[in-house]
Amino acid sequence: MKIRSQVMNHLVSIIAKYNQEVDLSRGLIYTRCGDAVSDEELAGMAFELIATGQETLASALSSIILYVGSNRDVLNGLREETKYLQIDDQTRKLSIDDLISSTYVHDVVRETLRLCPPSGGGFRKTTKTIEIGGYQIPKGWNVMFGIRETHLTSPIFTNPNHFDPSRWNSKTMAGNDQHYHYLPFGEGSHVCAGKETVKIILETFLIELVNGCDWVLLNENTQIKYTPSAFAIDRLPIIVEKCISA
Ligand code: HEM
Repeated sequence: MKIRSQVMNHLVSIIAKYNQEVDLSRGLIYTRCGDAVSDEELAGMAFELIATGQETLASALSSIILYVGSNRDVLNGLREETKYLQIDDQTRKLSIDDLISSTYVHDVVRETLRLCPPSGGGFRKTTKTIEIGGYQIPKGWNVMFGIRETHLTSPIFTNPNHFDPSRWNSKTMAGNDQHYHYLPFGEGSHVCAGKETVKIILETFLIELVNGCDWVLLNENTQIKYTPSAFAIDRLPIIVEKCISA
């Protein structure tokens, strides 16, 4: 709570500074009732984005370091696909088109979020009585869906505990409807608001990482704890052996 109020105060002061140049509260942002949003409410929204995004993103980034670091063939595949991007050339900037054409990078990120989804699940309230797998769930009950459990038990993923980015490229996967089988960002009307930004961040990070660094995991068999977010218990110690300044 103390940290929350410190961050909130900081956000309110940033917003106040911007308000001197552009009136944010009277500019773009209104509530559904048509009232202007106050600086405190605006700070609350910004705080929600920081709070929901910070830990999940950190979790995904460290899982990438773990899985790519322990799968040499995947690392080589990533380097092969992205070497033309010449990230050590400081005059060249990564574009969205570069990310779109880097399909293996995309698959590695997808597979990381499948095997080690940062967020354990989501919550919903039933609006009517439903039946799932022979069990009746009454109207008004709170229900939780497990993301990792879904990824590990879904019939569309063969050998589900194995880190295999190539599964996303296979002919079998192409025919499968992945809806409700693959949901690292949740699903439906409350799907993660940061989803598309996160994909760009993770793919950019991965390209920079594999082309800028060599790293060694000090414990390849590290244990992961999954709640509240997925993290290596030993905090994933690594040695960075080479770093190209990009
Ligand atoms: C790897 C990173 C992330 C993962 C895996 C992730 C995952 C999730 C999940 C599972 C939910 C619940 C969805 C549901 O109930 O159906 C969620 C909600 C949300 N996420 Fe993320 N998230 C990530 C990063 C971010 C970032 C960076 C932001 C903000 C910039 C963000 C903003 C939100 C917000 C605002 C919600 C609530 C959406 C709502 O209830 O309508 N997330 N996220």
